[in-house]
Amino acid sequence: MRVSVIGCGYLGAVHAAAMADLGHEVIAVDVDAEKVAALSTGTPPFFEPGLPEILSSSLASGRLRFTTDIAEVAGCELHFIAVGTPQSDDSGAADIRFVDAAVDALLPNLGPEDVVVGKSTVPVGTAQRLAEKLLSAGSSATLVWNPEFLREGFAVKDTLSPDRLVFGVADGVGQDRALAAVREVYAAAIASGTPVVETDLATAELVKTAANAFLATKISFINAMSEIAEATGANVTELADAIGYDTRIGRRFLNAGVGFGGGCLPKDIRAFSARAEELGLGSSVAFLGEVDAINLRQRQRVIDRVISDGGGDPVDLKVAVLGLAFKPQSDDVRDSPALDVARGLAQAGALVTAYDPEAMGPAQKRFPELKVASTLQQALLDADIAVLVTEWPEFVQLDPRTAGDLMAHKRIVDARNVLDPAAWRAAGFHYSSLGRP
Ligand code: UDX
Repeated sequence: MRVSVIGCGYLGAVHAAAMADLGHEVIAVDVDAEKVAALSTGTPPFFEPGLPEILSSSLASGRLRFTTDIAEVAGCELHFIAVGTPQSDDSGAADIRFVDAAVDALLPNLGPEDVVVGKSTVPVGTAQRLAEKLLSAGSSATLVWNPEFLREGFAVKDTLSPDRLVFGVADGVGQDRALAAVREVYAAAIASGTPVVETDLATAELVKTAANAFLATKISFINAMSEIAEATGANVTELADAIGYDTRIGRRFLNAGVGFGGGCLPKDIRAFSARAEELGLGSSVAFLGEVDAINLRQRQRVIDRVISDGGGDPVDLKVAVLGLAFKPQSDDVRDSPALDVARGLAQAGALVTAYDPEAMGPAQKRFPELKVASTLQQALLDADIAVLVTEWPEFVQLDPRTAGDLMAHKRIVDARNVLDPAAWRAAGFHYSSLGRP
């Protein structure tokens, strides 16, 4: 099929490359000429395993092109909207200006049987408004809402073989044709057994919001348990294992630690709360405020723990911060708990040296005074205490004896509960984590 993708950020760039990899003819559009130039040479502006490979092969095959000129989408049958919906202000509401701008820019280039496919995460009600916008502009193109559930670090895999596909469409003329078109564009995934949920526009929008709210709640639930475990001498990891064996609960997303971050979960729960307030239903999702508060409290708990384990006085305490990305296999530092911990310690007067295999450049853009080391070993050198905040494999596999030989004092705070306490203690370390004795 001939498809366009509007927006070449994280979601759009991966989606465009994946669609081309599946054999479609793809034209991807972004207003940022620098981004378009980089992507055109096969260089993604962010780290994502597997993306450079499918980008290069799709560019070489001629099936994928990037442009700043929206008029080039004319003639495509399907147009994916993959622009960002950042947090707009302190209310937490999503800023959907880019979605509206994308639809406005598309309108003059749409054919009568085209299908516009919304992938951006939007407040419920947006899709209906966009469908009306198409109609009132005299377009007979149909809107389908097809939320994206990709995880950073697994974005290519999640796009090519998603857990499920959701297609929301309004009843009416064009509905059947639009559904047939999205089924065709995702034919490979559907043929290999991916479940499909066909529904209305509002449900499709809410599926994404509800899924992220549920995941965030699961993480904050276990982090709340980590506080209780800590006060009572219980072990939150064993607790998670035990409740996770209940298939109704499940073990995934029950890892206690410094909490969730990134470009999606924190922003999406705040946008959901803001939208619920607008609907007069703030109390229905009031618990999400608590989910957010528990999550932010974990960051402060880690900062406090580093200071107390480091002897109580943060001033001139040499801290090695291991990790800056919001999670491993990513260079994303948006709302990163790791970066907040580094910043909080530095603001308290500690001498912070951070190391991350991929995210030091992006971190320094947001926090220019941050001192970084070029290797893990350099970060540890002469440190009074280390804190593991992103569970990169090279940190998880770190040999405590090697670390101990480099550091001034053998102390470590494991803010992701991924190290073996017995091994670190046997190497002479003062080891502590969140919710494990
Ligand atoms: C998330 C959703 O998983 C994805 O479906 C959606 O499309 C976008 O948001 P992502 O932000 O890439 O994806 O990361 P994810 O793997 O979900 O992790 C989010 C955060 O939760 C990370 O900071 C991670 O470290 C943290 N986390 C995850 C925990 O603290 N504990 C866990 O058990 C799992």
